[in-house]
Amino acid sequence: MLNIIAISGSLRAASTNSALLAALAANAPADCRVQLYDGLGRLPIFNPNDESERTPPEAARLIEMITRADGVIISCPEYAHGVPGGLKNALDWLVSGEAAIDKPAMLVHASPRSLYARAALAEIMRTMSFALYDGGLEIALLGKKSPEVENILTEPANRLVMHDAVAAFAEFIGTR
Ligand SMILES: Cc1cc2nc3c(=O)[nH]c(=O)nc-3n(C[C@H](O)[C@H](O)[C@H](O)COP(=O)(O)O)c2cc1C
Repeated sequence: MLNIIAISGSLRAASTNSALLAALAANAPADCRVQLYDGLGRLPIFNPNDESERTPPEAARLIEMITRADGVIISCPEYAHGVPGGLKNALDWLVSGEAAIDKPAMLVHASPRSLYARAALAEIMRTMSFALYDGGLEIALLGKKSPEVENILTEPANRLVMHDAVAAFAEFIGTR
């Protein structure tokens, strides 16, 4: 059983990125457990003075989750052509330690735009030594609201695309 952690870069209650990750979890192959990380909004702002023995509990939990995970899936919005601060903050807590080193990671997208954030996130994660999977997935949910979001994410064709994307990522993890 592969243990995959999914992180949404949006804290919005009706986040399309979070909805996409929840749908990926629901449609993952039987041998993959996709668990959504729910602590992004509780992480203190990264401060290198607070690392090691002073690491705050939520940051320690994130580091432990990523360390134990076989892979990471991220879906995030773009804010002002950048990666959302909350997500960058979470990644900053992972820079110094070993958690990200060679950790397979896949980026998925709920918006057909966000090209700056995609490129920046890929650059950040490669710099952190994540093993970034070339494939990914895009399901256009930009500007959509409930129940249209749920309708799109439960379309059989999209369920298959999500299943296949996680299966392909699992295969990539298997080659590492
Ligand atoms: C403050 C703010 C800034 C944004 N800036 C951009 C941007 O620069 N480029 C872009 O493509 N979308 C931008 N957007 C749109 C969001 O990326 C888009 O609404 C995203 O799909 C929201 O994700 P969510 O539904 O998971 O919250 C911005 C949205 C907000 C709230």
